[in-house]
Amino acid sequence: MIPNPDYMKITQGEFVFGKATVFSEEALKYKKFLPETGSAGGGSVVYEKAQIEGYKLSVKEDGVKVEASGAEGFFWATMSLKYMLLTGSVLPCVEIEDKPRFAYRGFMLDTARHFFSAEFIKKIIDTLALFKFNRLHLHLSDDQGFRFGSKKFEKLVEVGSKREGTRGDNVEHGGYYTKAELCDIVSYAAERHIEIIPEVDIPAHTGAILASYPNLSCEGKTKKVDEFFGILGHTLCAGKDKTYKFLFDLFDEIIEVFPSKYIHIGGDESDLSVWSKCPECQKTKKEYKLKSNHELKELMLRRVECHLKDRGRKVICWNDAVKCVSDDAVCQYWQGKLKETLAFADGGGKIIVSKFSPYYLDYPHGMHSLKAVYQLNPILDGLSSDGVKNVLGVEAPLWTEFVDSETKALRQMFPRLLAVAERAWSSNADYDAFMMRLPSALNVLGKCGVEYTPVEKANPKRGAAALETLKFGLNLIDKTTLPSLIRAAKAKSKR
Ligand code: ACM
Ligand code: ZN
Repeated sequence: MIPNPDYMKITQGEFVFGKATVFSEEALKYKKFLPETGSAGGGSVVYEKAQIEGYKLSVKEDGVKVEASGAEGFFWATMSLKYMLLTGSVLPCVEIEDKPRFAYRGFMLDTARHFFSAEFIKKIIDTLALFKFNRLHLHLSDDQGFRFGSKKFEKLVEVGSKREGTRGDNVEHGGYYTKAELCDIVSYAAERHIEIIPEVDIPAHTGAILASYPNLSCEGKTKKVDEFFGILGHTLCAGKDKTYKFLFDLFDEIIEVFPSKYIHIGGDESDLSVWSKCPECQKTKKEYKLKSNHELKELMLRRVECHLKDRGRKVICWNDAVKCVSDDAVCQYWQGKLKETLAFADGGGKIIVSKFSPYYLDYPHGMHSLKAVYQLNPILDGLSSDGVKNVLGVEAPLWTEFVDSETKALRQMFPRLLAVAERAWSSNADYDAFMMRLPSALNVLGKCGVEYTPVEKANPKRGAAALETLKFGLNLIDKTTLPSLIRAAKAKSKR
């Protein structure tokens, strides 16, 4: 099984699950998550409360017994049962004792660069649940699209949710989730013990917001929703009162829909150069005695963090903004500022590990192979013993600049996300043993209608990997990505 349980012992005998199998009252609540079976079957499925961590699952010839302290443990056991039933309705007798390694086991979908239907998001939720993930982070706003169906700010939908094309193809692309659809996604996920974490990325990556409301930028100029990708320098003005009013009102609307403890406020790749030329940003810097644009960014993020804190929420930010939030925030590590991120965790701040290489699943298998994903130790090198305890968990992101279909998304996700699932859940890692279990997990994915990249392509040989990487790199180059790649390389060499 993937993720590998803490303890699993197959014993003599088997149990046939089927139409005649009787469910106890508690077990009946979880029956709908199990696959239909054609077998007549018999015996019983009994769920019982017990003061244990995680869950116990025992299959004997006369039936199944599950023990857990509450709904979450019962659900994990149900997912293990579902997994086994997807490999056949005749179950081997088995004893399982199991619990998660990390509290945060996440996947991120970028819905801004390409829009994905609510139905597809539910399919992702079902698949994440089966592999015992418990967070789905939705990146809802970026330069290329705004996807939250705001009622307070209707232009975010009218203007921000559409673009004229993608990299010059002249094919309009758009979409947004209504608040009703999002509420439905949130409750669908909650039933499967997955929390949806919404992200509105600020102060940069705000091109779709600024196309909708140009007066929130420093220059106030009208612009279109972007159709090219890169670090495009669209940044909210940090000096105008209306920016803060907009952010407070928008996040208030967001938290009405998303009950999650954490709200993601982005904070990555902020090109702050426009602030240097903006009288209002400069005036704010003077007023607050701020020495740099970075301190002004801190002012903005802290104001939003305080606003959310007053409403009982905490924030997550990308580690670019680790110095712009309080110790109460969670910092999501992807790249850069490693020393600062380690210091944040060592000092008591919680972190999520989403290390670019190899966790970014939009990158080709030739760069981020299945093996590399499995072998990443989520405990970052250099953490103190206190810091280690502050690793909340892991999250693998799928950015979608170049992922324009559901099939492509699934093939980028799987099987690499199975490796993330196992490292997030299982205390013991063994790559060879994982690879032995992988064929049956792929079979399970197939039964769920989830496409995946075949193993030999997910772990390509050196020549194929180089070719794939080259093709990916060449496809990246266009009129906006080339300058931003050069800017990023220059910034890196100065660091
Ligand atoms: C990021 O990849 N810009 C967080
Ligand atoms: Zn400004």
